Order: sequence, then C-alpha cells, then structure tokens
Amino acid sequence: MLMPKENIFEQLAGLDVYGYGSAEQLKLEKQMARYFEREYERWRGNENTPMDYGLNSYEGEISKRGSRDESTDHYNEEYQVYRAFLDKDYMAYTMGYFGATEEAPEITEQSLEQAQENKYELLIERADIQDGQTILDLGCGFGGFSKYLLKKFPNVAVTGINPCEVQAQHIRNELIGKDDDFGESRYRLIQAFCDDITSETIDDEYFDRVVSVGLLEHVTNIDLLQQIISRVLKKGGKCLHHCIVSYDTMPNYLNAEDSYMGHYYPGAHIWPYKEPTRHNTHLKFKQSWFVNGLNYWKTLDEWHKRFWESIEQLHPEFLSVEKAEDWNKYFTLCKAMFCPNDGKSYGNGQFLYEKI
Ligand SMILES: C[S@@+](CC[C@H](N)C(=O)[O-])C[C@H]1O[C@@H](n2cnc3c(N)ncnc32)[C@H](O)[C@@H]1O
Repeated sequence: MLMPKENIFEQLAGLDVYGYGSAEQLKLEKQMARYFEREYERWRGNENTPMDYGLNSYEGEISKRGSRDESTDHYNEEYQVYRAFLDKDYMAYTMGYFGATEEAPEITEQSLEQAQENKYELLIERADIQDGQTILDLGCGFGGFSKYLLKKFPNVAVTGINPCEVQAQHIRNELIGKDDDFGESRYRLIQAFCDDITSETIDDEYFDRVVSVGLLEHVTNIDLLQQIISRVLKKGGKCLHHCIVSYDTMPNYLNAEDSYMGHYYPGAHIWPYKEPTRHNTHLKFKQSWFVNGLNYWKTLDEWHKRFWESIEQLHPEFLSVEKAEDWNKYFTLCKAMFCPNDGKSYGNGQFLYEKI
C-alpha cells in the first residue's frame, strides 16, 4: 500500500524543527538566549579594540575578496522566500524601529511596514537629509530606503550600490521598471561591490549625503571605505552608517567565521560600538547613537512568523525541507543574539561623519 507523503510540517517535526510560537520552539529560543546572556556577561565592560584581537579595521581590502561572493550568496537566496517574510512595502533586510524606549518593541502594535518607515525617518533626521540633495545608498539591498527617499522628496536624486543579482533584479523590475518616481533621471543603480567604485563610476564630490544600512558588517577595512566616501562626498557633505554592533567588545563574534554566523555571512564582522567612532581621518566623526537590540529582535520575530505562515506556499518550488530548517535556525539564532540584557548588549549603531 502506498503511504501518504508527509507534508513539510511533518517532515520538519521529524528533524526536530517546530513552528513559530510552538512550545518546543519557544523553549529552544529561551535556551539559546540564556546561552548568549552568559556569553555577554563574560565580556561586560570590555573596552579592548578589535586590533587587540588581531582584527585591524585600517588594513586590507574593503571587504574580504575570498568570501565576497559567498557572503552575497545569502542575499541571492530564492527571491520568493524574501518576498514572503520581509515587509511588503520596502523589503528592508535590516531592523525596523519600533521606538526609542526599551519597552517599545515589546509592547508595540505597529506593523513591520510602519517600523521600517520609522527607521527611514530616523536615518533622514540623523543624516540631515533634505529635498534637492544627491544621495548615495550604499549596499542598498532591495532598494527600500531609496524608494522611501524618492517618494518623500520630489527633488532628490538617489544612487544605489549593490552587487547582489537577485536584489538588483528586483530594483530593475519592480522599481525602475514600474514606478515613475523611480525614473532614470532621479535614480541610478550601480551593480557592484563598493570596493570597486572608481572615479569612472562616480565623480569626485558628487553627493551631499552617503548612507549605508547594514553594510559595515561586510566591511573589514573601514578606513578605506571612508576614503572612498570622502572622495565622492561634497565638502560639508555628511555620511551616516547604520550597522549591527555589540555594545562591549566581544572577541568571539568579531569575525563571523568564529561562530555559527559564518555559515550565513562568511567574512562578516560585528564591530564593537566604539570601533566606527575611532575612524576620523578621511571624514570627521561627529556623533553616534546606540539603537536598542530589541528592535532587531522584534523585526526578526515578525520575519520568523511571516516565514512560517508562508512555508506551505513556498514548498517545494522555492523552499526545500533542508532550506526551511536552515532559515528557521537563522531566525532562532539571530533572535537569541539580540534579546539578552534587554537589548543592551547587541543592537545597532548609527555613526555620523562630515567631510570638512
Ligand atoms: C543586510 S543587507 C541590507 C540591505 C539594505 N540596505 C536594507 O537595509 O535592506 C546588506 C546589503 O549590502 C550589500 N553588500 C554586501 N557587501 C557589499 C559590498 N562590499 N559593497 C556593496 N554592497 C555590499 C548586500 O548585497 C546587501 O544588499
């Protein structure tokens, strides 16, 4: 007799993978968060620099050439999977912002879509972006921030840089192709690594503002990146970086490859909050802000929920059982990383610089 085929949920349960919000999954999340809590406790107050652990943010290539393609592999995953779990309006693949207070992400009734707009507003305020400016969106993902800027400000001109084919394709099809606001006169996409930007691609002193969201995690030589940004910024122009940081220096997580995170992001780094503030040579460092990690935890939790709600539609065409297991591991790991210590150990840093 032919046995009925197991559905994907049964197959996942057979691998000890249980759905969002299930008792088994919640238990796993708690266990992992406790593990990270103990880890972070070991490094509380550690003000050593990455250099003390052999990582020099003034040396080498901007991003690790050997692992560059591998690190964009994660972004080149099946488009439909990202479409299913990211916010519908911007497909932002970085934290949404639920509010300034510690409690905000836990008690919020705001949607993920709203939280992504809140983040964009925060970036606009802190980078002092105004209508009429020329803006570079460095590591632009699916183009969400560019889209928000072009809609909000009728006279800005935005350039996005991103090497990733899947994301560039989305920008070409969905944004440049369909939306008049994204017409070629106001928007330009350069599909490249920022490492490869030369004066042939971007003129000197072209931009009023440079913003990167979620890029510095991929950057090893921050100094060289700042040098390039300084060249393309006008005098008096400003640069704002937004990236994941640890509040204290945590040597185990400086190099993604030293932890399981390297499975998803080979060659990536999680910088201590102070590290980008030390870079003051090519651009003058002005100010920094630590954004509570519970904002990222809440964002990941929403992604995780939407992912599980979509599994049946995604499988088998766009999502194998193995991939579903892998994504579940990813959401679980990242959530557990941001929530300990009320979001004060891991969060996001925002770093403002000026060209003088
Ligand atoms: C975490 S995603 C963030 C995307 C987008 N900024 C957002 O907030 O949704 C990081 C982005 O940086 C891009 N990226 C990675 N390494 C890069 C590099 N060396 N130069 C330019 N972009 C890079 C990736 O392709 C991806 O689009």
